[in-house]
Amino acid sequence: MNDNNLDKIAVTLSKPPKGILAADESTNTITKRFDSINVDSSFENRRRYRELLFKTHDLNKFISGIILYDETIRQSTSEGMPFSEFLKDLGILVGIKVDTGALPLTSNSHEKITEGLDGLAKRIEEYKNLGAVFTKWRAIIDIDDKNSIPSDYAIDLNCFNLARYAKVVQDHGLVPIVEPEVLMEGNHNIQKCYNITSKTLKSLFNYLKFHDVDLSGILLKPNMVIAGKGCSEQASIEEVASQTIKCLKESVPDQVPGIVFLSGGQSNELATQHLNQMNKSSETLSWNLSFSYGRALQQPALTSWQGESENIKISQDALFKRSNLNSSATLGKYSIDLENI
Ligand code: 13P
Repeated sequence: MNDNNLDKIAVTLSKPPKGILAADESTNTITKRFDSINVDSSFENRRRYRELLFKTHDLNKFISGIILYDETIRQSTSEGMPFSEFLKDLGILVGIKVDTGALPLTSNSHEKITEGLDGLAKRIEEYKNLGAVFTKWRAIIDIDDKNSIPSDYAIDLNCFNLARYAKVVQDHGLVPIVEPEVLMEGNHNIQKCYNITSKTLKSLFNYLKFHDVDLSGILLKPNMVIAGKGCSEQASIEEVASQTIKCLKESVPDQVPGIVFLSGGQSNELATQHLNQMNKSSETLSWNLSFSYGRALQQPALTSWQGESENIKISQDALFKRSNLNSSATLGKYSIDLENI
């Protein structure tokens, strides 16, 4: 327990039937997403798109919090209301991505290190004044046997930085989401993903302890244990769910209130099915299991939008649908038949 409400915020964010919408794509990333629908990534188009998402009817029934990007937390609705105030009025907690992206670990390295510790305390204070109550930092771990990665060095350094970030954020009274993402890119099988995820989580919790981070006031945002996208042998839904739970149980202490998965490039339906299967499991779990999806919530909304005002309603309907279905999955009450309703 902590004395500054961090545990309450972490529980609120991860408690079924709600989860988090990750809408914190950097300008580079959202530009790639807009390129896919031939929409110019201008300041105003990015604002229009985020406004569309946030104004989706009844979003607050399924979404507890939304992670914003630096540009977005400074933007407003077309009526001039800052997004953070608009969301707060809906009872949706405001989060902010505070890492500054991943750079090559060394000049000739295939691995990356997430940066952003410099000036972090000052930026957090500013975000707090702008309405944020939680934060996110994403570290990426790439699997590539040909290049003998990931190295222990990349895993440990990324986890050290994640833990230091978490300490600074808690020190300023916000909840840190710690996101160590083992990427799905590659041909590796599910066992390899299990081993690397397990190693990464062990390193992470070791450094969180070293930095004296209060585990009751964080959320873990991991990948699921899943075969690489290029692997010819894809695991069943049941296997992904059971391997993911087994891996988490091995490393995640009971004090952590919630685990909110990233979707990582899974199809919309599979991301929902996997979460549902885990929540259907008869195992007693000490943490809430929910979602903090970016692509698996937004993809159909983005594709329906196409940058056109007349498509706003169908785009919002698409986000409503995925949010509703993932909400059902946090209760283990999703079924594939609901996709066609
Ligand atoms: P995806 O669900 O698209 O993986 O995004 C989640 C996220 O926040 C990545 O940092």
